Amino acid sequence: MTQNVFGLDIGTSNIKMYCSNSNEILNEKNVIAIANKKNIFSYGDDAFEMVGKAPENISVSFPVKYGVIADNENMESLIEKFYYKITGYKKPINGEFYVTVPTEVTEVEKRAFYELVANAKIKAKKIYVIDKPIADGIGAGIDVTNAKGVMIINMGADTTEVSVLSLGGIVLSKGVKLAGNKFDESIINTVKKQYNLIIGNKTAENIKFELSSAVKIPEKKYNVFGRDVVTGLPIQVAISSDVVYDCLIDQINSLVDAVKVILERTPPELSADIIDTGIYITGGSSNINGICELIAKETGLNVNKVPVPQESVIRGIIEIVKNPKKYDGIAKIPREKIYY
Ligand SMILES: Nc1ncnc2c1ncn2[C@@H]1O[C@H](COP(=O)(O)OP(=O)(O)OP(=O)(O)O)[C@@H](O)[C@H]1O
Ligand SMILES: [Mg+2]
Repeated sequence: MTQNVFGLDIGTSNIKMYCSNSNEILNEKNVIAIANKKNIFSYGDDAFEMVGKAPENISVSFPVKYGVIADNENMESLIEKFYYKITGYKKPINGEFYVTVPTEVTEVEKRAFYELVANAKIKAKKIYVIDKPIADGIGAGIDVTNAKGVMIINMGADTTEVSVLSLGGIVLSKGVKLAGNKFDESIINTVKKQYNLIIGNKTAENIKFELSSAVKIPEKKYNVFGRDVVTGLPIQVAISSDVVYDCLIDQINSLVDAVKVILERTPPELSADIIDTGIYITGGSSNINGICELIAKETGLNVNKVPVPQESVIRGIIEIVKNPKKYDGIAKIPREKIYY
């Protein structure tokens, strides 16, 4: 492997960046805080801390929506910031970049990922693009170059993508606009209705980390601070896991239904393989307790969970970068090499 290779999985909620020189993965919130419409005030996890707390002159935003780049300028600034953070460089040095692109989007939207890396001031000498489900499968430990059909479900922040892979390619892929962020929204609405409590996105996400479950569990409580709807004053309330279960279960069931639809559309030969290998589940939202059990019960198939599901895509990129011969042709250069 040549030196100074970078991997990028640009997600709606989190950006994952790999740097070969430091052999590290950076996984931070894909958020930027801009002061007075021009200066970067903070970025990444630090900027996420400011969601719902920032004064009027600071705007906090997520430049990626539903897996596609919605705000090029801020995304470019973020890439540059994360580049300096992971490398510790004072100035950029020529490097090779491997960036994943979602499948269920237009060619223009795919191209935007390439352009982003090409335009950012990070001296991208060569840029390769990789289909996200392929990197995801490799990161989940699947030998995607093998003929066997496998199903992989990536439950992220804005989208859940269900894909069937075979012979190193994508046979089927279906994206559903339902994942972690919708769960957070539901928690915000339910907490307001049931507890008369106004909470922000960060608190909702914390409630989800602590209490969410796709299967019924013995009741647990989690204390949060919020604003009382009636008095307007800050108060602490103990949120019940039963309430969180009731609020999320319909959405979780719709996701399971989407998986079933893809299974029904899968060619029979591949279905036979999937019955054999089971389903692989990745993405941050697959950390929800009991999700594997529920999908296994509803589909009658084995569900394999991967150790760090939110990093499956970036780990797949690393594997490709480290074994170029094995994965020949999987990483593509979309247009002539660009040199600086
Ligand atoms: N332990 C957990 N329990 C529940 N949800 C979790 C947990 N850990 C992470 N998540 C959720 O996973 C999501 C982030 O996952 P991931 O990094 O895979 O998404 P992303 O790549 O940013 O989004 P997308 O793939 O939709 O563009 C967030 O919604 C986060 O709240
Ligand atoms: Mg993702």
